[in-house]
Amino acid sequence: MSETLQVRDAVRADLPQILDIYNEVIANTTAVYSETPVTLADRENWWRSRLASSYPVLVGMDDSGVAGFSSFGGFRAFPCYDSTVEHSVHIRADRRGAGLGAQLVRPLFGRAAALGKHTMIAAIDAQNEPSLRLHARLGFERAGLFTEVGRKFGRWLDVVFMQRRIEVSEPSASS
Ligand SMILES: CC(C)(COP(=O)(O)OP(=O)(O)OC[C@H]1O[C@@H](n2cnc3c(N)ncnc32)[C@H](O)[C@@H]1OP(=O)(O)O)[C@@H](O)C(=O)NCCC(=O)NCCS
Repeated sequence: MSETLQVRDAVRADLPQILDIYNEVIANTTAVYSETPVTLADRENWWRSRLASSYPVLVGMDDSGVAGFSSFGGFRAFPCYDSTVEHSVHIRADRRGAGLGAQLVRPLFGRAAALGKHTMIAAIDAQNEPSLRLHARLGFERAGLFTEVGRKFGRWLDVVFMQRRIEVSEPSASS
């Protein structure tokens, strides 16, 4: 049985913990296709630009603080992609494998529905088995595989795209 996180919109004071989680993912995993740590100013710009677009940035809180965060943004810039969003979710290293990721992805469905979105995309490194399994469990279907499109830690990376339809009736609560 996984612990229940308190999921809420991120506030500015959460950004240092979001930054630490994100930079650990950059440093030690292939979940983010970058090898360069980001700064607090970068996270603040990201958070502000998400809010300016009415896009959510959610944090999952436990007794230790921010255990993870999730968000979505535009998929591609051309206007006819406006009904599609691409999301991300990252759980703090010491809290992974405890069933928390779903608690941060599920609330995104209601947020996307409220914005009139129709499709949600996840771009997942092909070797990221926990993320592939998490998304399959949440109703995402594998839409395609791009091979050798990324390079990190001195090797080629393949990325799997998964997609899920957003229903008008998605629950707004994180149930
Ligand atoms: C990927 C991530 C979001 C998943 O969240 P989580 O709370 O750790 O996921 P869960 O505990 O629900 O585990 C998800 C699934 O992976 C399985 N799993 C967990 N650890 C695993 C491992 N090391 N190898 C293979 N499967 C594993 C779980 O059994 C579960 O399977 P199920 O859905 O069939 O029951 C989280 O691990 C994370 O933030 N990882 C680092 C950053 C990242 O990869 N972000 C996602 C980018 S797309």
